[in-house]
Amino acid sequence: MSTEPAIRVEGLVKRFGDRTVVDHVSMDVNRGQITGFLGPNGSGKTTMIRVMCGLLTADGGTGTVLGYQLGRDTRRIKSEIGYMTQRFSLYEDLTIRENLAFVAGLYGLRPLRKVVDEVLEGLGLSSRQHQLAGALSGGWKQRMALAACVMHKPRLLLLDEPTAGVDPKARRDFWEEIHHLAAGGMTVLVSTHYMDEAERCHFVNYISYGKLVASGTVEEVIAHAGLTTFLLEGEMEKVTAAERMLRGMPGVAETAPFGTSLHVVGRDAAALKDSVQHVAAETGTRMSATETSLEDAFIRFMSEAQDNMA
Ligand SMILES: Nc1ncnc2c1ncn2[C@@H]1O[C@H](COP(=O)(O)OP(=O)(O)OP(=O)(O)O)[C@@H](O)[C@H]1O
Ligand SMILES: [Mg+2]
Repeated sequence: MSTEPAIRVEGLVKRFGDRTVVDHVSMDVNRGQITGFLGPNGSGKTTMIRVMCGLLTADGGTGTVLGYQLGRDTRRIKSEIGYMTQRFSLYEDLTIRENLAFVAGLYGLRPLRKVVDEVLEGLGLSSRQHQLAGALSGGWKQRMALAACVMHKPRLLLLDEPTAGVDPKARRDFWEEIHHLAAGGMTVLVSTHYMDEAERCHFVNYISYGKLVASGTVEEVIAHAGLTTFLLEGEMEKVTAAERMLRGMPGVAETAPFGTSLHVVGRDAAALKDSVQHVAAETGTRMSATETSLEDAFIRFMSEAQDNMA
């Protein structure tokens, strides 16, 4: 029982009208792990999450969430998971405490006062409990939203871009909280566009145009991409010229500037090396081999998915 994944979906399909937004996706979310859910805008992450919460009905496929059947045990699923929506959905004109008390009331949690005290304390919100939610910074708002969805002690948390637009320090604090919850046995599925957050996950799933493109640990996903990456460094004009020259050359799949350096990525290592060597000599930039980053891999997956669509 305990080795069964917290979420298992197979061949999940969701359509809106004649558009297939989730296209036969199969994936597992392992118990006690933090699983990242990545993919470009509009790739179907929120839709999948809403199907897995039982808020949307799938048009095909099957799945279990905490052992309950999707599409059948909807009420059980809803009551045993925590879902943090992509958009802030609490009351701006209530204080933190009032918001949490309201949600605790919806869940019928008792004794209300104690439940709210505990969650305020647990998430470091006690000192701000009387502040209006609308006056909080993005980071504190998200922390309050997290408090609201863990109050009923769910075993599974689905977090949809919980840190979008939040500053790096607050994002780091938020992730510490997520790791803390996972260490306590919580399973977490979290969608994000931030690479540093993806790298903090035990496992990542990447979807594009509704299709699962890659899944595994960060190392596995990078290895699966099968990319070679070179770095070109030098003065800005030289690097800019190098990027322009590299476009369309043999072996070059992607180029991406990082400050004063350029990442050059491709699948055909030999052809890529020849091209980069040539361009380095022509432009007077320094060339070195570097490790492929998760971002390099994701950008490649995205371009390939676009090519497949076209
Ligand atoms: N209720 C709906 N009716 C029709 N189309 C929808 C509906 N909800 C989402 N879509 C469409 O489905 C596609 C997937 O949307 P979804 O919100 O799941 O993507 P996402 O991966 O969460 O994107 P983002 O990273 O921008 O949050 C988009 O093209 C979107 O416009
Ligand atoms: Mg979304």
